[in-house]
Amino acid sequence: MADDIILEATGLTKEFLGFVAVKDVDLRVRRHSIHALIGPNGAGKTTCFNLLTHFLVPTSGRIRFNGNDITGSSPAAIARMGLVRSFQISAVFPHLSVRDNVRVALQRPLRNSFQFWRSERVLDSLNARALELIDAVGLGPYAELPAVELPYGRKRALEIATTLALDPEMMLLDEPMAGLAHEDIDRIAALIRKVAADRTVLMVEHNMSVVADLSDMITVLARGEKLAEGPYGEVSKHPQVIEAYVGTGHG
Ligand SMILES: Nc1ncnc2c1ncn2[C@@H]1O[C@H](COP(=O)(O)OP(=O)(O)O)[C@@H](O)[C@H]1O
Ligand SMILES: [Mg+2]
Repeated sequence: MADDIILEATGLTKEFLGFVAVKDVDLRVRRHSIHALIGPNGAGKTTCFNLLTHFLVPTSGRIRFNGNDITGSSPAAIARMGLVRSFQISAVFPHLSVRDNVRVALQRPLRNSFQFWRSERVLDSLNARALELIDAVGLGPYAELPAVELPYGRKRALEIATTLALDPEMMLLDEPMAGLAHEDIDRIAALIRKVAADRTVLMVEHNMSVVADLSDMITVLARGEKLAEGPYGEVSKHPQVIEAYVGTGHG
């Protein structure tokens, strides 16, 4: 059913000086699903993310979000429509506390332009909302700690909290598990599942057990093209998928 599809890309193509990084990719993401984009290094996953959020302009192809054509929209306009890419760790202010980082994100004007003043009441409600989000991602005990002092895995949770602060309808996560220790992976996976209960998540992820565990649907890219698509049970048995991973030493 077309109205069950929140994000739809058709014929997505990106060339860099004649090198085709993404070639004629069709992608349909179902509302309230967790959809993974996987593939060997250089497959075009990050380029796809950049195209979907318009950090890169596609050479050709169309992108529709909630039925609206967003192909030509700016990243800011796309974010306002509810499609938000998780902030990179560098976007966290290291010397602000966890709570203030989330408050800053809550004040990021997604829908309105600048507000020159804020009443005490608005600030109080921001505080309450910030603490709610901090609890939701398991950072309650760290609320007053400067972000720089957080353990690495907790920084990823903060990154998710600052993204959630924007209240996106759909989140794009680029390798949320990269560099995480085992305990952190379990916690962040649980967090992503929780977050996805009333949102849509599209993630690039290399950790196959996480992909298997979380994803409703998987799209496999190789050399810029879609190689396979389906739930983990199907995709993991696909001979070309196995070959693509074995062939580059990734898995
Ligand atoms: N700005 C760019 N200019 C030229 N080539 C690029 C650029 N960005 C990515 N590429 C190339 O496009 C291909 C896909 O890259 P990328 O999307 O980062 O892959 P993945 O995220 O799947 O590892 C790679 O061969 C990469 O070198
Ligand atoms: Mg990448």
